[in-house]
Amino acid sequence: MTSESLIQKARAAALKAYAPYSRFSVGCAIESVDGEIVTGANMENACYRLGVCAEISALTAAQAAFGLEKVARIAVAGGHAADGALTGAAIVTPCGGCRQAIYESACLSGRDVEIVTANGSGTEIDVVTINDLLPKGFGPDNLADSG
Ligand code: THU
Repeated sequence: MTSESLIQKARAAALKAYAPYSRFSVGCAIESVDGEIVTGANMENACYRLGVCAEISALTAAQAAFGLEKVARIAVAGGHAADGALTGAAIVTPCGGCRQAIYESACLSGRDVEIVTANGSGTEIDVVTINDLLPKGFGPDNLADSG
């Protein structure tokens, strides 16, 4: 699947977000090494700190569908959802916590994970990797001395 197609799936997923507090809808689409696709969207809560990011939602679906070790590419897009369309000018990159969660899947597979980021309107797309976004991350190997 092309980066553009994966972003379209992320933008469509963003329309399923539950984001009444921030009014910022984020969608995430994850492609497995075998071409399987799962999606997720942010889900907020009246107790604000319990909100879940789109990437975590999609990674949970990925684990259930094919396992974190098969995560190959992740697309993220976010903006304002209205009248069945997502709009927004600024490219959305995964937050720090989501980078850490994506890093876990990269550590499991031993492969770098590609991350396609886009603005809400889908007109601006950038491609990076998790090692670009989280260099020298803390992962399973750092627990080797835990005893
Ligand atoms: N959000 C995500 O879903 N993913 C990110 O990487 C950045 C932020 C959500 C969390 C919250 O529901 C809304 O965007 C505003 O921060």
